[in-house]
Amino acid sequence: MDESKEEQVTRREFMKAVIVTIGGVITAAVGLPAIPYVIGPALKKDSADWIPLGTVSKVELNDPTLFKARIETQTGWINAEEEISVYVLTPDGQDFIAMSNICTHLGCRVRWIPEEDGFFCPCHNGVFARDGSVVSGPPPKPLDRYETKIEDGVLFIKRG
Ligand code: FES
Repeated sequence: MDESKEEQVTRREFMKAVIVTIGGVITAAVGLPAIPYVIGPALKKDSADWIPLGTVSKVELNDPTLFKARIETQTGWINAEEEISVYVLTPDGQDFIAMSNICTHLGCRVRWIPEEDGFFCPCHNGVFARDGSVVSGPPPKPLDRYETKIEDGVLFIKRG
């Protein structure tokens, strides 16, 4: 009788150990891959915030010049690559204004039309001046601007 009780206790302990081990393995399998998502953004370097557009010599004087760049975006668990378009304006080759091509009304893409001296939005006929300020139409504010910096002749914008 005593022997059987001892055996039962031993089986119970064995089963507890098995369950704890399986639980530990499942926790590790689920938890370890999640660690980079949780602490990853805190470990990102500052350089990841700056996006290279191209050489500053490409920017035409007083004419908005279009640059395209690919950026990585993260929405929840999903990483994706997206192409952005940025218009850069310089009045003197020293100071640079980098503007988004996304209309501030409902997010359509604006286009620079040199003959009309303005950015035009095809969706609701919004018009912006060469510096991105609103000329007419429904856009409530100027085109968004990016912070810029130049390193070794390359123009960078700061991720917004
Ligand atoms: S989205 Fe550009 S004017 Fe409406």
